[in-house]
Amino acid sequence: MSRLIVVSNRVAVPEAGKTAAGGLAVAVNAALKERSGIWFGWSGKISEEPSERPAISNRNGVKYAVIDLKEDDYQEYYNGFANRVLWPILHYRVDLAEFHRSDLSGYIRVNKIFADHVSKILEPDDIIWVHDYHMMPLARYLRERGHKNRIGFFLHIPMPPPELIQALPRHGEIIGALAHYDLLGFQTESDKENFGRYLESRGGQATADRRAYDIGGRRVKVGAFPVAIETESFARRARHAMRTNFMKDFRSSLGGKKMVLGVDRLDYSKGIPNRLEAFESLLRTTPEWHEKVTFVQITPKSRTAVPEYAEMDRYISTKAGQINGEFGDVSWTPLRYVNKTYSRSALAGLYRVADVAMVTPLRDGMNLVAKEFVAAQDPNDPGVLLLSQFAGAAAEMGGGALMVNPHEIEGVALALRRALEMPLKERQDRYQRMMAVLTDNDIDHWAQTFLDALIEPSQPALDSL
Ligand code: UDP
Ligand code: G6P
Repeated sequence: MSRLIVVSNRVAVPEAGKTAAGGLAVAVNAALKERSGIWFGWSGKISEEPSERPAISNRNGVKYAVIDLKEDDYQEYYNGFANRVLWPILHYRVDLAEFHRSDLSGYIRVNKIFADHVSKILEPDDIIWVHDYHMMPLARYLRERGHKNRIGFFLHIPMPPPELIQALPRHGEIIGALAHYDLLGFQTESDKENFGRYLESRGGQATADRRAYDIGGRRVKVGAFPVAIETESFARRARHAMRTNFMKDFRSSLGGKKMVLGVDRLDYSKGIPNRLEAFESLLRTTPEWHEKVTFVQITPKSRTAVPEYAEMDRYISTKAGQINGEFGDVSWTPLRYVNKTYSRSALAGLYRVADVAMVTPLRDGMNLVAKEFVAAQDPNDPGVLLLSQFAGAAAEMGGGALMVNPHEIEGVALALRRALEMPLKERQDRYQRMMAVLTDNDIDHWAQTFLDALIEPSQPALDSL
């Protein structure tokens, strides 16, 4: 059996007592557990000397190979180009992008360093699966090093329309370089179509079924593969979590009040301010709910060296303090705002106890929190998912979630009230519709369909015949 080599910037090596927040880490770890493979990427550490060879560790049948980055690589590639240029532009926030040529050089340099390391471990029949926006040109550099392996790429974040991609200086070298892969996976059909239009704007020709494009003498296949969760085991985890002291203490701290939950990395794409404003609007317009509801917002800090994240951090803490100051009482704290990272078991329990989950990103590739919340519910008394129309998850969960436009605060506040007051029968119907989707497409199905499509031989490009 050929080996699977996974490459991504963030590698979540399981460590006792530590959890990596972020959809990519969670999904890839789950997918790799099922196969013999190697996960290559950044150790998360900075060192003065470049790593000559990766540090290897073996956990639960997965081999992890990680390298350190140097300070200038970390600044230019990770904080700079990946998180201050690609992240905002691909999340439709061209206004927040801060482009510097030195950062682009750093991004290309690190991609070449990754290609050198991967190149050394590659065997001819290995299958390579590259993840996310940090590593877009990697296939090009592997091809330049003579590798003919099947290489697939999955983008965990949105792909905006070509008009926005074109705002990225030298986009052809980065986004255009995706054409060096054999298969490109996107979260939704609309992400896939946006990319198709971008390729067409660069002279790419779609095949009749629009499942592949011919460009530069190569054929690249494209598809929507909505990333999923370990539905069954997550549901089990949530049931078990209810027996822990953590959950017993937490439930007694609620004192019978209803609970609304938000779980997000501290990121401007997540729409946390809008959500808090909607909660504030509910409290302002609906005194009946005072003292009867507690909002728990779990927000691990993320990318703190990037100024836009630090600014969002200040704004949200101030807003949280203001809401509690204005509406709280000695016996009631309306909003519990927490910056800790919780284990997946603790989160599973919190999801299960929540009456409503507010998932209100302004843009999100998928949003696994939305899916985990549904999987964790008690089928006899399920909570309600309130979901932004701009989350990738909306394409699959729209049939059961209460859909909102996060830009309309009053609309979100009304939806929150509706969710809090929703009759049992409607909650059950909605839950069942969403759970059916999560059972059909779980993490194994996601990984398998992507890998099957990657392994399937491609037709040669028409212009190379
Ligand atoms: N997560 C976690 N602990 C936390 C907060 C989040 O383990 O304290 C996990 C969460 O369970 C989910 C992932 O981080 O699996 C977040 O993925 P999502 O797709 O929602 O957002 P991303 O962070 O990838 O943008
Ligand atoms: C999102 C991205 C991932 C990233 C994660 C956490 O899920 O799609 O690629 O790993 O956020 O961000 P970080 O910068 O800490 O890796």
